[in-house]
Amino acid sequence: MPYLEPYLIKTNCEAMQYINEPALLEDMKAFNGQERSHFECHRKVNDLLKQNGHPQLGRIESFFDKSYKKLLTRNLRTRLAYSAGFETMTKEFTNWAIRKRRKLWRGADKHMTSFWLMHLLEEGEHKTVAFDVYMAYSGSYFPRALGVLHGSSHVMMLGIFAMFSALKKISF
Ligand SMILES: [Fe+2]
Ligand SMILES: [Fe+2]
Repeated sequence: MPYLEPYLIKTNCEAMQYINEPALLEDMKAFNGQERSHFECHRKVNDLLKQNGHPQLGRIESFFDKSYKKLLTRNLRTRLAYSAGFETMTKEFTNWAIRKRRKLWRGADKHMTSFWLMHLLEEGEHKTVAFDVYMAYSGSYFPRALGVLHGSSHVMMLGIFAMFSALKKISF
């Protein structure tokens, strides 16, 4: 997340010069503000994890960093489609996770639980903003459809990779 969310903010900032609707510009600023506070919290969580039994996350973070730097070299339409696609997947993930919150976070650390729930609740607003930005900038259907696959599969692949590295360290 500390690599994905700065990517979303940078892409949004670059798109702002092409957006003329004041209400959408306000939404984009609010979106960036939420993503900024998310990645700052995730940065602290990752640092805590690295210092407390998960040093391997450092290598994974370098991989994430390279991946998002490479993505930032793609054209703006592709990046906005990625953002809208990723946020579409996130919205559905959020709905599922909020419904299952009691089971998913049962027995979990209360600070981590409230951090994730706060993050997810704010994520629920992002799909609409990212979609509106893409439509205002381009609106082309096919790249947007591709963006759903690109954004979702890329984030899930990286996330699963990081999750298994953490699970490998836990002995049951
Ligand atoms: Fe976020
Ligand atoms: Fe988001």
